[in-house]
Amino acid sequence: MELRRTKKVLLGVSGGIAAYKAPMLVRALVKSGREVRVVMTEAAHRFVAPLALETVSGYRVRTDVFDTSGSVDHVEEARWADVMVVAPATANILAKMAHGLADDMLTTMYLAFSGTVVVAPGMNTRMWEHAATRHNVSLLEGRGVRFVGPDSGELACREVGAGRMVDPEVLVSALDDLEKPNDFNWLHVMITGGPTREYIDPVRFISNPASGKTAIALAVESAHRGADVTLVLGPTNLKVPVHPRIRVRKVTSSADMAREVLNDFMNQDILIMSAAVADWTPLHQQPRKMKKEDMGDRMELRLARTTDILKEAAALRGGRPRPYLVGFAAETASGEDLVRLAEEKLQRKGCDVILANDVTAGGFGQDINRLLLVSRSGVEDLGEHSKTRLAQVILDALRRHMDSSPVDTRQTGS
Ligand code: CTP
Repeated sequence: MELRRTKKVLLGVSGGIAAYKAPMLVRALVKSGREVRVVMTEAAHRFVAPLALETVSGYRVRTDVFDTSGSVDHVEEARWADVMVVAPATANILAKMAHGLADDMLTTMYLAFSGTVVVAPGMNTRMWEHAATRHNVSLLEGRGVRFVGPDSGELACREVGAGRMVDPEVLVSALDDLEKPNDFNWLHVMITGGPTREYIDPVRFISNPASGKTAIALAVESAHRGADVTLVLGPTNLKVPVHPRIRVRKVTSSADMAREVLNDFMNQDILIMSAAVADWTPLHQQPRKMKKEDMGDRMELRLARTTDILKEAAALRGGRPRPYLVGFAAETASGEDLVRLAEEKLQRKGCDVILANDVTAGGFGQDINRLLLVSRSGVEDLGEHSKTRLAQVILDALRRHMDSSPVDTRQTGS
């Protein structure tokens, strides 16, 4: 599996209206830990000032092939880069790239560059759909050039259709994708995350301190590794990074979450239940705010058990090996006690894997977490990692387990 480095980015900016996004793109790339050098066409100067790009990238912007004042020549610059990104790419620049014309610095560098090229087209819909552009795109794709976008929507020319350059964060995540293995390619992964809220009345609810951090990190990592992700997310303030392969479904209560998951999980290859689903919900939800005067000094709340989503999913799956079912166990126990509780939970829920952690040692809302993976083939300590790193470790482990241990249907609990 070929993993690419994308740390040094040679950004080619051509002359379309979306060139105004170039400084934002450079900032987003730099923020993601990348170094960026910019080359622009003459036409791009009309939409964005080179000084803006020099300021955000920290490097002199190149435009003129005959300018010898800089110390680095174009071949050296092309050799320096891990990846070349052309954004926005106009119909004109695509045509030149497809046919090997090199009449400016950008196209000269394209020919001098032998690594991965990523292109974000930005142009009017009719130009994008024109047979000449379609042909040029297929020539470039056939040569291994990767296209990101364009998006559809209202364009600068007020027409509606395909042609809008993707947002900078989408391009950044496309580069992140290149650095990851493609081992979840074509898999449909459903991930639940965050807490749920069980409303008592319109202004009061029962909840828990889960943040959804682990679920979001798992969603991003799965998408980078090629999966098509559905993230069913309870109420959280965290922002889900934009990725074309992540679909977010926001839910509030455990009943909402149960509905979302149980309706769709059989279309998935993997269900990862990392949400902290409430186990109890008010037996009666009051439609109007309860007033203290009406309640007296004490209030008794009657609760009912919620649907155990994971257990229900295992029962609905029956004897089939897929979707692969992954549960979490947040416990206040460590060592052998933690393992015993996780093994019992694995059995009781009928899932394939339980990822167990001791919440007294960190967990909810924390950045660092330590997990044990408990399956029918044994216990594995996944170690202590940041939640972003932990997501990689979890997916590596799940990949191994899915490949090596198909579910033993005789042992499913429910
Ligand atoms: N879970 C679920 N539906 C619920 C409660 C939990 O699907 N109503 C899932 C969680 O997302 C997690 C796993 O079941 O993946 C274990 O959750 P946990 O709360 O640890 O287990 P419980 O069965 O609730 O057992 P207990 O709270 O008694 O430890």
